[in-house]
Amino acid sequence: MTSGNRPGFLIVFEGTDGTGKSTQLELLRSVLQKKGFEVLATREPTDGKYGRQIRELYSNRHKLSLEEELELFLADRKDHIDTLIAPALAAGKTVLCDRYYLSTAAYQGAAGLDPDIILQRNDFAPVPDLALLFQAPIETGIKRITQGRGDSLNDFEKADYLLKVARVFEQLTLPCIKHIDASASIEAVHREVLNHVLPLLKT
Ligand code: TYD
Repeated sequence: MTSGNRPGFLIVFEGTDGTGKSTQLELLRSVLQKKGFEVLATREPTDGKYGRQIRELYSNRHKLSLEEELELFLADRKDHIDTLIAPALAAGKTVLCDRYYLSTAAYQGAAGLDPDIILQRNDFAPVPDLALLFQAPIETGIKRITQGRGDSLNDFEKADYLLKVARVFEQLTLPCIKHIDASASIEAVHREVLNHVLPLLKT
């Protein structure tokens, strides 16, 4: 299913860890709901069967081969689309999704798979109307994770790996992508998000 021939809108939030995607998703959700839009806010990996298996990999990534890891992310996405995303889009909702297939291209691409082939493997997935790509220096993101949230870095968040992930994100050239300078203040980033989203929703 391509964008433009369905009642709802699909807006995805992409970028490396700690760039503030989730904060911005919540701010946007609140604005859109106040304006009367019906919003589904969701995320990948999901909390479903495959998403839970993916989270188990966070501390022990090397249990699976790269191909097996890719299959898990694809299975999680198929399930997510069938159960939540496609019905919401068909019902005219605005779907805000924290990570989608650009993350698979960038993260599994940085791990060694071909990003173009990863994108082809996602051809079952609705094309986003807008993919907001949050970009900030990797050190900023890592600081937000370790100091701000008090977390330690999991296997998907190691610094040299994240640098490679950021490079693959930068090289993606899909028409739905808009780049967001995520090193600015929360308010400034929010305004930039609205500048992209409100014209799309014609509001
Ligand atoms: P994240 O958004 O950090 O979720 P949570 O807050 O639940 O930890 O995503 C978890 C990690 O999964 C993140 O480091 C990126 C990685 N990831 C992939 O490697 N491939 C994918 O397709 C997706 C959706 C995520």
